Amino acid sequence: MDNKAGISDKELIKWAFVAAKYAYAPYSGFHVGAALRTLSNGIYLGSNIENASYGASNCAERTAIFKAVSDGIRDFEAIAIVGYKEGEEPSSYAFPCGICRQVMSEFCNKDFRIIVGKSEDDYRIYTLEQLLPESFGAENL
Ligand code: THU
Repeated sequence: MDNKAGISDKELIKWAFVAAKYAYAPYSGFHVGAALRTLSNGIYLGSNIENASYGASNCAERTAIFKAVSDGIRDFEAIAIVGYKEGEEPSSYAFPCGICRQVMSEFCNKDFRIIVGKSEDDYRIYTLEQLLPESFGAENL
């Protein structure tokens, strides 16, 4: 097992695929699922939730993070992310967008792990520091 939560990276990717099924993405047709592993309270799932006013849409990663934070859970260890066009297999790794990286930086350490997967067997792991170096945070205010 990779962590205290007792959920392996492969299982986390599997859960991200479950989350992606619940995407509400009638405008882009692109389903994203995220599974956020916490040290104290298992995993939180999130999917992208779109809106007819496109800017009101929310990404899968932020859905998962905000669900956890609003439950009082912030000890995040890793997140698995998957994305694919509805009805298709993932054709690329689903990297988090810039806004989601910034939200991660608010709550996660530099060594927080971001697992982007095309499948349970085809994935890459990055740290938040790798995906958002030289970030702006509370220490800059
Ligand atoms: N999306 C995410 O859920 N996460 C990301 O990091 C990138 C983009 C969603 C937003 C929108 O619903 C769809 O993917 C297409 O951009």
